[in-house]
Amino acid sequence: MSSDASLESAQAQDAADPLSRLRAAFHVPATPDGRPVTYLCGNSLGLQPRRAMDEVAKFMQEWQQLGVLGYHDPGADWLNLHERLAPTAAALAGAQLPEVVVMHSLTINLHLLMASFYRPTRERHRILIEQNAFPSDRYAVASQLEWHGYGREALVQVAARPGQQLLQEDDIAAAIEREGGRLALVLLPGVQYLTGQRLDLARLIAAAHRVGAVAGLDLAHAMGNVPLALHDWGADFAAWCSYKYLNGGPGATAGAFVHERHFDAGLPKLAGWWGNELATRFDFAESMKPYRGAAGWQVSNHPLLGMVPLLASFPLFDEAGMGALAARSRALTGYLERQLDERLGARIEILTPRDPARRGAQLSVRLAGSRGGGRALFDGLISRGLTCDWREPDVIRLAPAPLYNSYEDCWRAVSIVEDALNAAPA
Ligand SMILES: Cc1ncc(COP(=O)(O)O)c(C=O)c1O
Repeated sequence: MSSDASLESAQAQDAADPLSRLRAAFHVPATPDGRPVTYLCGNSLGLQPRRAMDEVAKFMQEWQQLGVLGYHDPGADWLNLHERLAPTAAALAGAQLPEVVVMHSLTINLHLLMASFYRPTRERHRILIEQNAFPSDRYAVASQLEWHGYGREALVQVAARPGQQLLQEDDIAAAIEREGGRLALVLLPGVQYLTGQRLDLARLIAAAHRVGAVAGLDLAHAMGNVPLALHDWGADFAAWCSYKYLNGGPGATAGAFVHERHFDAGLPKLAGWWGNELATRFDFAESMKPYRGAAGWQVSNHPLLGMVPLLASFPLFDEAGMGALAARSRALTGYLERQLDERLGARIEILTPRDPARRGAQLSVRLAGSRGGGRALFDGLISRGLTCDWREPDVIRLAPAPLYNSYEDCWRAVSIVEDALNAAPA
């Protein structure tokens, strides 16, 4: 065992990193017998910031004491809550402030944005996605095609090469080039949910634009995980959820980005009153006066209970800074990778790119004996106190989130995997 492989070494690395202090700002779930679980599942649902309960309680009290006046009360300030959250969302997205809005939910936001940005014509109506896109994205895109009267043949899916797991940017760029003037929209993930692969978005956005297609992004697995520069990359639109790396809680209010070059382009929107500028929203005029910017895509009044936990989570991102968090993330995930390699060797297959620049926090793995099955092995991890997740057909995702995970978590996770593998029937 190399010295790096000891628990003491993991603990020493935790002690040496000043950002380790942020873990104390979160609740870590416990096993039925009261031990803290080893939680490597922030790619699925982020942990609860300790202050989230206070924010929720404060909101409930405001509702109790103010009723409807909470919307306009200067202390409660419900009407401007999305604006209070926007600066952190913009910083994480690499966007100008008016280019982001915290609203609705991820798939709904994708639909709202596609309503504006997917404007198919007879010649140009195809949509390109990756073959293993998250099912909700595939369903959403297929339904947009159907809604506009086009069939499945208009859905272009780029697959990994035979025998490979990962997408090649060359192949995506070539498919975009090949589709050329037939392609209306390219919808890609920042980080692919199943493999953890981070795509070169700057390159692929430019490729889409070269053929005159719109470049849209699903950043569910990228926001708060990897640094983004949506404005400089020139993405047309993007949407993300807030329950993974952003720690907003199950179903938390999501977010969206629209590049500022579209603000005055007269794009059609599926509208609702919340997209009306605050100054005139309650005039109830015959026609609406939308916000200039991403906030103009708001439709309904916000589910505030799903939003206030972000008031507890976002300041932690502000405090750490995405640059420092990304550096910590690389170190943590690299450590987890080394531990898996050194301690488990051929008993584990890592599907995620080995190059740290091509991934975020998540490592997707297959365990020996799990190919095409292995659900029992995964259940063994959960029962031993490792919370991670399983994606069909045989992928286990382990994601050390840099805000709250530690080197010790990574060390313990590998020990649990080893233990479960040893206990599995040969
Ligand atoms: C990549 C991706 N897209 C879309 C979704 C669906 O999100 P929602 O149910 O919040 O619309 C998820 C959920 O995990 C996801 O991971």
